[in-house]
Amino acid sequence: MDPVTISDIEEIAFEKLDKNAFDYYSSGADDEITLKENCNAFNKIFLKYRVLVDVSKRDMSAAVLGHKISVPFLIAPTAFHKMSHPDGETAVAKAAGKAGTVMILSTLANSSVEEVTEAASGPVWFQLYVFKDREITRDLIKRAEAAGVRAIVLTVDAPLLGQRVRDVKNKFDLPSGLTVKNLEKNFKEDLIINKNDSGLASYVKENLDASLNWNDLSWIRSVTNLPLILKGSACSEDAILAAEHKVEGIVVSNHGGRQLDTCRATIDVLPEVAEAVKGKTEIYLDGGIRRGTDILKSIALGADAVLIGRPVIWGLAYNGENGVTDVLNILRKELDLAMALCGCTDLKNITKDIIVRNLH
Ligand code: GLV
Repeated sequence: MDPVTISDIEEIAFEKLDKNAFDYYSSGADDEITLKENCNAFNKIFLKYRVLVDVSKRDMSAAVLGHKISVPFLIAPTAFHKMSHPDGETAVAKAAGKAGTVMILSTLANSSVEEVTEAASGPVWFQLYVFKDREITRDLIKRAEAAGVRAIVLTVDAPLLGQRVRDVKNKFDLPSGLTVKNLEKNFKEDLIINKNDSGLASYVKENLDASLNWNDLSWIRSVTNLPLILKGSACSEDAILAAEHKVEGIVVSNHGGRQLDTCRATIDVLPEVAEAVKGKTEIYLDGGIRRGTDILKSIALGADAVLIGRPVIWGLAYNGENGVTDVLNILRKELDLAMALCGCTDLKNITKDIIVRNLH
């Protein structure tokens, strides 16, 4: 039988992927408390639905950075798609375009930004890691801009990589033959140097700039006029600072539970962020979204749109571009049904009136 839910597709991915790859994608930091809480927190939020509303016509389109998308979810940046399927990031870009949404491409992609924008039929945004060597960073931004990306999504929650215990034990490394295409020009040696650690953790420590701070945003602005989104903001204080720095958007994110373990689930952070900065900067959320109702709850609590991470990887492992399309269709269908059953005909009708907490 064809998979019906995202968790059906995750099960297939688990069967298909080797341990090094599946553990890399699925693991979180330390005891994986936040990893699990990102999902569990959605299940502790209950919905109050309204009846006798004409829901015969429903519209889930949204606008992100002034661009209309058909569904209020985007593809989150995740690394190394070719570990999941040989077609890698270009397959994801094609599926995103067909679904009428945006793909956010990772710096740590196995396909180059040029290959991905060429394959894409929809907008591509570029996730940026800032390197100690600012010329490498400048090159990356300029190259992404020349390739036609429409926004820079700066990851701000990873001055060092969180301890993903499974990766440390596996001594995570890229399978032979795979490289980080966007960086090939700048590094001669293997990008992921296998030490007695997760290869990626040692790579990040050696190459990424742990001194990155609020003052550096003006440097990024001096390199590009592209809209800037900060990904990894997880409290209202940082959201307020982000809005003061006039960034175009923030992603309420804890890096899929992969950085600081025991930090709060993103859906639990969202209300304070929305209260502080809604209307001043766009608000996106990622972490733990596996159901259409999770998307509905995120919109109700203040997100303009959400980002889908691991489910896209599972779809890719399941069946390449078509598998990603299946994942996006499952989420679209579930959100559409949830909207209809809640009495919501478009995103504007999805308000916190439908949310009930603390039932027990
Ligand atoms: C890369 O960004 C990772 O979190 O592994």
